[in-house]
Formats: sequence, C-alpha cells, structure tokens
Amino acid sequence: MQARERPRVVARQAAGSLRPMLLDGRVAVVTGAGRGIGREIAVCLAQQGASVVVNDVGVALDGRGGDNDAAAQACAEIEAAGGRAVPSYDSVSDFEAAGRIIRTAVDTFGQIDILVNNAGIIRDRTLVKMSEDDFDAVVAVHMKGTFNCARHAAELMREAGYGRIVNITSSAGLRGNFGQTNYGAAKAGIMGMTFVWALELARNGITVNAVAPAGTTRMTAGLYERTGTEPPPDQDPSLNAPLVAFLASEQASYVNGQVLGRTGYAFTLFQTPRQVAAMWREGGWDPEGVADHFHEVLGQHLQPVGMPAHPLLGKKD
Ligand SMILES: NC(=O)c1ccc[n+]([C@@H]2O[C@H](COP(=O)([O-])OP(=O)(O)OC[C@H]3O[C@@H](n4cnc5c(N)ncnc54)[C@H](O)[C@@H]3O)[C@@H](O)[C@H]2O)c1
Repeated sequence: MQARERPRVVARQAAGSLRPMLLDGRVAVVTGAGRGIGREIAVCLAQQGASVVVNDVGVALDGRGGDNDAAAQACAEIEAAGGRAVPSYDSVSDFEAAGRIIRTAVDTFGQIDILVNNAGIIRDRTLVKMSEDDFDAVVAVHMKGTFNCARHAAELMREAGYGRIVNITSSAGLRGNFGQTNYGAAKAGIMGMTFVWALELARNGITVNAVAPAGTTRMTAGLYERTGTEPPPDQDPSLNAPLVAFLASEQASYVNGQVLGRTGYAFTLFQTPRQVAAMWREGGWDPEGVADHFHEVLGQHLQPVGMPAHPLLGKKD
C-alpha cells in the first residue's frame, strides 16, 4: 500500500529550551492515562508537543466499579499547562469500544501517530486460589485490550505509513512474580505480540516496542504500606515517561521489537529470549538419553526466575 503524504511536522521549541520538542504535531492515544504511570506518560507526551487522547474507564484497582473521572482530571491538567488533550472513557477490553478510543484521536485531532497501551488492573492470587473470573478479567484488560487498541490503530497507521506503538509490559511476565498468574500471562503475551507486530508492521513505517515500567502507584502502594515505609524518590511514576516519549518519536525509528525497562534511575534493555545452550544427537533423543545427558549439557545453563534487582542498576555507588 502506498504511504499517504503526511503534513510536514514543523518542530517548535519547548518553552525555555533550545531543543525542538520530540512530538510536535503528533497525535497520541494513551490508555489508562487517568492516573499513575499512564497519566505521567500523557503529560510528558503533551509537553513534547503531542495532542493526547487520555483514555481511562476509571475503575478500581481490580477492574470493578469506580466512578472517578480520572481522564477528565488529567486532561484539565494538560490543558492548564498549555497542552492539547481530550478524554475518552471507553474500556480497552471491549473490541468495539477500543475502536471508539482510536477514533477519538482521528475525530478530534485528525490522525493517530502514537499508541501507548498502558491500561491495567490486578487481581493477585496464587494459582490454586485464582478464580477463572480473576484470570479472564486481568487478561481481558492487559492482553486483549492491547490487541484491541493496536488492531484498530495499526490499520490507520499503515494507511499513513507511520506509527509508534509502545506496549506496557512488566517483569512479572518477563521473569515471573509470585501470585501473578493472570498478570504474568497477560504481560508475557504483550511481549509476544510486540515481537510479532514489530515484524509485521516495520514495512509500514511503524515501530512496536515494550516497556516494563516501575513506580509507586495504587498498584504498588501496598508494598510500602505493609512495611510502613515511604517510597523512595526513584519510585516516582513520572520517571518512566521520558523513555516512552523517545520511543514514540521519529528519532526512535531504528528501535523496533525491543523490550526496555526502568530500574531506579536507569533505563534498561532486556535480552530477547533466545537459546543459550543446545544438546544435539544424530537422529534425536530418547528419554533415557535426555536423562543421562541433560545435567552435563543444559543443566549447566539453567536460569533463575523472578525479579531480583540487578545489583548495579539504579544505584549511584
Ligand atoms: N506501578 C508499577 O510499578 C508497574 C510495574 C510494571 C508494570 N506496570 C504497568 O503499568 C501500567 C499502569 O499501571 P499503574 O501502576 O499506573 O496503575 P494504575 O492503577 O494507577 O493505573 C491504571 C489505569 O488504567 C485504568 N484502566 C483499568 N482498566 C481499564 C480499561 N479496561 N480501559 C481503560 N482504562 C482502564 C484504570 O482506571 C487506571 O486509571 C499497567 O499496565 C501496569 O501493569 C506498573
């Protein structure tokens, strides 16, 4: 398909800055942007010149109830600072509703250049205590919601010959975390879709990357409440947004299919899962042969699960 001619983006300069803004003239949708990490991403994208659809259905942490007009509040904040934003209250987990989220960008601002799939809920339980409903609800928002929004957005981005998709994942899915079967499954699924879409959409000028953020939001506040401690400054949820803004920019055209993260004040790059060792036998193996040789070959390379922090990351000394 022929790329449509796009209006030339004239870079303006951020107030008080000698550098042009990263996203001037661009239009972004950020899901789950009424609060937490998504709100900070929406604010940052707007500060960098993007017009932003602030999508948030305004639910409680477990996805139930909730009537908080978080999306409108975030929009008011962006507009008060001189930015452009419009609220959207549809749920990402409904396919038709996700179409309305993306259409809000086109109807209000004329196009869709950037999609940040950030909306999320949690219902933590160990496997043997997790209900089917807990599993389905979390997968529906994170994984299906990411598919729903990307499915609608990618079609328009493909027609335009340009797009940036940033999928918010989590170490819970990349490395595993106790009590998060549903969340880990969804976040690992998001990583898998990121790889697939990076391959499929690259020819259309669209990049797709994943970011595993960190920050004290209502999703993680319990960790500090339980220990009665204050979250450290390096858990400020706004610290994730600059990386997302860069990935959402034209400058990041060479970054595709990557999984990035944040630990402390460091942005990090994850290794893509790949074979680290192999045991080979002409004609293949029988179970006894595997049992006899596994330890001496693959057994020497077994890898840890879970997410202990890298000892050098996020620390100045
Ligand atoms: N906080 C962390 O340390 C951390 C770590 C790793 C990953 N993440 C991920 O970052 C993202 C943001 O999390 P957060 O900590 O800011 O949580 P949060 O609860 O503060 O924000 C999530 C927002 O998503 C909205 N939302 C939920 N379901 C929705 C739906 N169906 N449609 C539209 N909006 C919906 C909620 O109303 C909420 O405002 C999530 O994807 C989360 O999994 C967070």
